[in-house]
Amino acid sequence: MLYLVLSSLFLAATIAVTSPSPTTTTIAHDDPRIFYHGRWDKSSGTWWGGSGIKLCAEDLTSLALTLGPHTSAPSVSLGVSFDYASFVTMNASEGVNEILLPEGGANVVRINAEGWQNNRMNLLALEVDSGAKLSRYTPSHLAFQFIGDSLSAGQFLPQGVDQAWPFLVGESFRAEHNINAQPGATLTDMVSYGNVHGIAFQFFQTEDTGYYYTMDHNFTTPWHFSRDIPPTHVVIHIGANDASQNVTQPAFISTYLHFFDHLRELYPHQPIFVFTPWGWPNADGTISYYYDGAYQEIVDTRHETGDKNVFLVNTTGWMTWEDVFPDNQHPTVPGHAKIAGLFKNWLEKWGLHAAREWATLA
Ligand SMILES: *[C@@H]1O[C@H](CO)[C@@H](O)[C@H](O)[C@H]1NC(C)=O
Ligand SMILES: *[C@@H]1O[C@H](CO)[C@@H](O)[C@H](O)[C@H]1NC(C)=O
Ligand SMILES: *[C@@H]1O[C@H](CO)[C@@H](O)[C@H](O)[C@H]1NC(C)=O
Ligand SMILES: *[C@@H]1O[C@H](CO)[C@@H](O)[C@H](O)[C@H]1NC(C)=O
Repeated sequence: MLYLVLSSLFLAATIAVTSPSPTTTTIAHDDPRIFYHGRWDKSSGTWWGGSGIKLCAEDLTSLALTLGPHTSAPSVSLGVSFDYASFVTMNASEGVNEILLPEGGANVVRINAEGWQNNRMNLLALEVDSGAKLSRYTPSHLAFQFIGDSLSAGQFLPQGVDQAWPFLVGESFRAEHNINAQPGATLTDMVSYGNVHGIAFQFFQTEDTGYYYTMDHNFTTPWHFSRDIPPTHVVIHIGANDASQNVTQPAFISTYLHFFDHLRELYPHQPIFVFTPWGWPNADGTISYYYDGAYQEIVDTRHETGDKNVFLVNTTGWMTWEDVFPDNQHPTVPGHAKIAGLFKNWLEKWGLHAAREWATLA
């Protein structure tokens, strides 16, 4: 019932904000030529940083996003990339948002919400020039699913998750990538630094934990994983906040193993990579680690139960004081690039190679 009411509102909003022009064509948000990734609710709105769309078109000379009332106010920061060039930030708000295309247009346009909060892009429609010929985007044969906290979400980075190591790894392998990383969140389903749930619960939901602070969508709904391209590789880096919340090592291990069982129901055959912490680098050169040996134990336990497709990624020593912001010990922009480079090397040694080219060429 709520959705019924909301959708007629959207219709009204669409009519109100779109000035009919003979030179543009409206592409409805449910047009199959829009490739969606990440988590989207029924209003066609994003949750979780990194969620977005990809478009493939010929003769695209103008593009605008018509955003609805469930867009973050005053604006949502979007990362926009043309023809696989670097992502640049653009702020967008409810209403029609012109995307400035490069001279000569673009064949592939990628747009995502880059923030770890205020990351809601409520996409009602696209406006493209009438001569544009959209076609379906072909996804890469590689698809990463990343699961984490602030250390994966790109918290404190100017371009948010678009500069974070998971995103960079995905890009460098020319892979699709979904990133479910919630700053402050524990894996354990408990209240932590403003999060009403831990990742062991929220990962399976459409919304990130920001829903709790949202007047117009103060509820959370299960995510239908059939909407994802099945990932080919799953990467988990979690535990910093459990440690800070004093979750004991045995309790953390037990929660992690339980989470693993749930993941395996979704991802029965995929290799799963378990990161050890790179810890909190300190000014005196020391590094504060947590849950020593826990991650090894988790991987060993999986192996013992017959699940050999689980790999420990030992990130000990990956981050030093020089790689982090002094006031919060999170990786800087170069710090994230360093992690991405180290993990890319690790994966290549393991046997994964980047796609030679993007499946949808620019
Ligand atoms: C986007 O808006 C934020 C404030 O909400 C501002 O700090 C930032 O500079 C803006 N970015 C761009 C590219 O306009
Ligand atoms: C969301 O709902 C919870 C109760 O379930 C309430 O405590 C919270 O204040 C609400 N948030 C907003 C922004 O209304
Ligand atoms: C965790 O334990 C430490 C040491 O006992 C204490 O200082 C800290 O306040 C505790 N943190 C939480 C979130 O309970
Ligand atoms: C991780 O690497 C560090 C440094 O090379 C090493 O001391 C440690 O034993 C390794 N841990 C595991 C679980 O392999």
